[in-house]
Amino acid sequence: EAAAQPAARTRLPLGAAVRDDPLEKEADYRDAIIRHCSQIVGEGGLKWYDLRPSRERFVYDRPDRQLAFATANGMTLRGHTLVWYGAMPDWTKSISSAAEAEREMVGHIEQVMGRYRGRIKSWDVVNEAIPDEPASRSDIRPSIWQQRLGESHIALALRTAARVDPQAQLVINEYDIEFVGPRFRRKREAFLRLLRDLKLRNVPLHAVGLQGHLRAEIPIDKEGLSAFIAECQTMGLQVLVTELDVVDEKLPGPPEVRDILAASRVYDFLDAVRAGSPIDSILTWGITDRYTWVPLYFKRADGLENRPLPLDRDYRPKPMLRVIEHFLRDR
Ligand code: G3I
Repeated sequence: EAAAQPAARTRLPLGAAVRDDPLEKEADYRDAIIRHCSQIVGEGGLKWYDLRPSRERFVYDRPDRQLAFATANGMTLRGHTLVWYGAMPDWTKSISSAAEAEREMVGHIEQVMGRYRGRIKSWDVVNEAIPDEPASRSDIRPSIWQQRLGESHIALALRTAARVDPQAQLVINEYDIEFVGPRFRRKREAFLRLLRDLKLRNVPLHAVGLQGHLRAEIPIDKEGLSAFIAECQTMGLQVLVTELDVVDEKLPGPPEVRDILAASRVYDFLDAVRAGSPIDSILTWGITDRYTWVPLYFKRADGLENRPLPLDRDYRPKPMLRVIEHFLRDR
């Protein structure tokens, strides 16, 4: 059966976010990644607070190890992330002027992308720029960059990235744009406004990353999502699924039943994405229910474990994996 082939060999563009601890210490974890993935991304390691404990010091151990693992196993590593409001070290709070912000942001992109030039070929240059409840179409999420430089920090980041590594795929990554409801429609509209604006001004940008942290209790807006994706394609943007999982805090039923419901959400999501444009690649935010961010923020009230990912805690494939593989084979 083809599903048993390592993805790196069959070249299914399937990937997962990796954690450094199990990657180092657990053979079963490593085997699962090697078997199923042709690309990985660090769940952490390239974030500001991981790389820059102080202004002067850059700590590359974790991404270096992730890259070595990827290379040794015929996979690629994605870069996550250069400009984000989150995961910032405390010292960045003291950035107090536009000139200083520009120097820090540009310098960071030069250092980090420069170090991995030609080796990390796809970057989430800008992550989560749109607020959860945009007040208007031109609302941008607060961050030190937005505070000091305004919206122009986004174009500056992308232009800098293109200069540092002209071959790299430059991505804007976003969440919560796939669901039914006015709040999510407004987020899609604000996101589209930003993308159109960047394209109009010839800012280098190659792809949109849909994180895809799906919610078990919120249906996918299939029409709205397909229309959004089709519009991205019109602008010449590729579409990547970058952080897929299903937040199952409120999903009822026994584990086997929940797994099927979660897989059907993934089906709806990928089906709507594909209706708008071909799916380039799919990365999940973790590979096994054993290691996932979900219980950190969305622990179940019934004491049962969260099951957001394609493999269970014993690395057995769940229906979600079959759904993802189906869409990747059938692009
Ligand atoms: O490493 C320490 C550990 O030593 C300690 O025992 C533990 C106690 O809480 O904390 C551990 O660090 C946590 C780390 O995750 C472990 O993986 C951090 O506190 C926690 O803040 C960190 O959260 C990460 C979060 O981003 C913030 O950086 C999640 O792992 C990571 O999955 C999550 O990923 C984000 C993407 O970057 C962007 N999109 C949404 C996605 C999910 O929230």
